Order: sequence, then structure tokens, then C-alpha cells
Amino acid sequence: MPVISFANAKGGAGKTTAALLLATELAQQGFRVAIIDADPQHWISQWHELSGPQRNIEVISEVSVASLQGHIAECARTADYTVIDLAGARDAIVTTALGLSDHVMIPVQGCAMDARGAAQILDLIGLIEEKGRLSIPHSVVLTRVTSMVTTRALLAIKGLLQARGVNVVNTPIVERNAFREIFDCGGTLHTMDPAKISNLDRARENARAFALEVMRVLPVRVVRSQPARRFLRVVGNAA
Ligand SMILES: Nc1ncnc2c1ncn2[C@@H]1O[C@H](COP(=O)(O)OP(=O)(O)OP(=O)(O)O)[C@@H](O)[C@H]1O
Ligand SMILES: [Mg+2]
Repeated sequence: MPVISFANAKGGAGKTTAALLLATELAQQGFRVAIIDADPQHWISQWHELSGPQRNIEVISEVSVASLQGHIAECARTADYTVIDLAGARDAIVTTALGLSDHVMIPVQGCAMDARGAAQILDLIGLIEEKGRLSIPHSVVLTRVTSMVTTRALLAIKGLLQARGVNVVNTPIVERNAFREIFDCGGTLHTMDPAKISNLDRARENARAFALEVMRVLPVRVVRSQPARRFLRVVGNAA
């Protein structure tokens, strides 16, 4: 069961939106998805309360540093994918989640502060990798990309990050009304009314392409990873 965390030390980078889009699309594809809501602001838990039970989705709230590992172990029994939404911080819970993840997604909007928040997460990953002698696969996800941003500009950003050895997800998450509305309406992109939400078909297409790319990188047969097990040994909590 792949564990995928969304992290950026800067608030408002698009973590929760990207995490929810991925989780709901994976569920739409028929996978059982657990979302661990490790953000004290509990946006995903509120979305879940508003939405009511959702097919293939389970949301775990009330997460602490001490309980995170147990939650992940429990999810491994019931879910095909676990998605962790983290606060815009660089604290103990973020550090623990990064160390227990099979892949860390770092959402970045095209602004300098977001990039700095992303750099803080990249530094933290580097530190855990060095101290724990393990490898934590990670990628930057470009978010809130507008149609004004040309493919050429995106390719330039991608090239720049790749030159520094940072992988960038091919599918950027576009700025869409539907991605905001999901938190106000509840449900998923697939339960929304296309007559009421502009460009819903494009939003669905974008979220699907993002999820398919993640599924290709992290097929469900990936078992609880080597890095996570080694991290647990390093923190003296071998499972
Ligand atoms: N692709 C998008 N299209 C439209 N609006 C978006 C998109 N991504 C994020 N937003 C909006 O931007 C704001 C911040 O996004 P979000 O809550 O996902 O960021 P976050 O990184 O989780 O923030 P925090 O650090 O506070 O948890 C929200 O109002 C959200 O609706
Ligand atoms: Mg958030």
C-alpha cells in the first residue's frame, strides 16, 4: 500500500486540494483510499463531514506524532492507497510523515514563497535521508497553474528543477473553480453538477490525469517500503 504525503512548509501552496483530488480520483478508479488528515485545521475532515460517507474513502482525523505510525499500519490492512495531508509547517509530525512515506508530493504554485517552502521540505527530506541512510522518493507538483502559463514556461520550470535533481510531476494541477467548490459542496468532481460549475469536464480530466500519473509511479502492488521500515528502525520504533 503506497503512502503518499503532501508537504510544503509554506501555507496555502495547494497541499489539501491536491491530496483530496488524488484521493477522490483513486477512489473513483475503484481503489480503497485512506486519507490521514494530519493538518490541525482539519479541512479534509470537514469536507468528509459535509460529504457524508464516500465510496472507497476513509478519513482519519485526530492524528499526532505518536499515533501516526499506528494509523498507517491500520490503513495498510484496509486501504490500497494512503494519502496524508500535512500542515504548512516543518514540525515533528511533518518529519515523521515524510520518513514513513513511499512518495512525498510537494505542491508548488509559481511564486517565490512557495518555492522557499518547498526548498525547506527538500532540505528536510535530505536530512532524513542522510541521517537515516534511506531514500525518500519525492516530486514537485505544480499547482494552480493558469492557462496564461504556457507549456514553454512550464517546461522551463521543470528543466530548472530537474537540473537540480528534483523530479516534477508531468501533469500540473490547473487553477479551477471546481477544485475550490469541492470543499464548499462536498462530494467529488463526479457528483458535481456540470450545469453549475464552470469547466467541470476539464477539471475532471486534469484530476484524472494527475491520479493516473501517480498510479503509474506508485502502482498499488508496491508493498510497505524499505525506506519506511528503515526509518522506523532509526527512530527506534521498529514495527
Ligand atoms: N488548483 C486550484 N484551483 C483553484 N483553487 C485552488 C487550487 N489549489 C488550491 N486552491 C485554493 O487555494 C487555497 C489554498 O489551497 P489549499 O488549502 O489546498 O492549500 P494548503 O497548502 O493545503 O494550505 P495550508 O498550508 O493552509 O494547509 C484554497 O482556498 C484553495 O481552494
Ligand atoms: Mg492544507
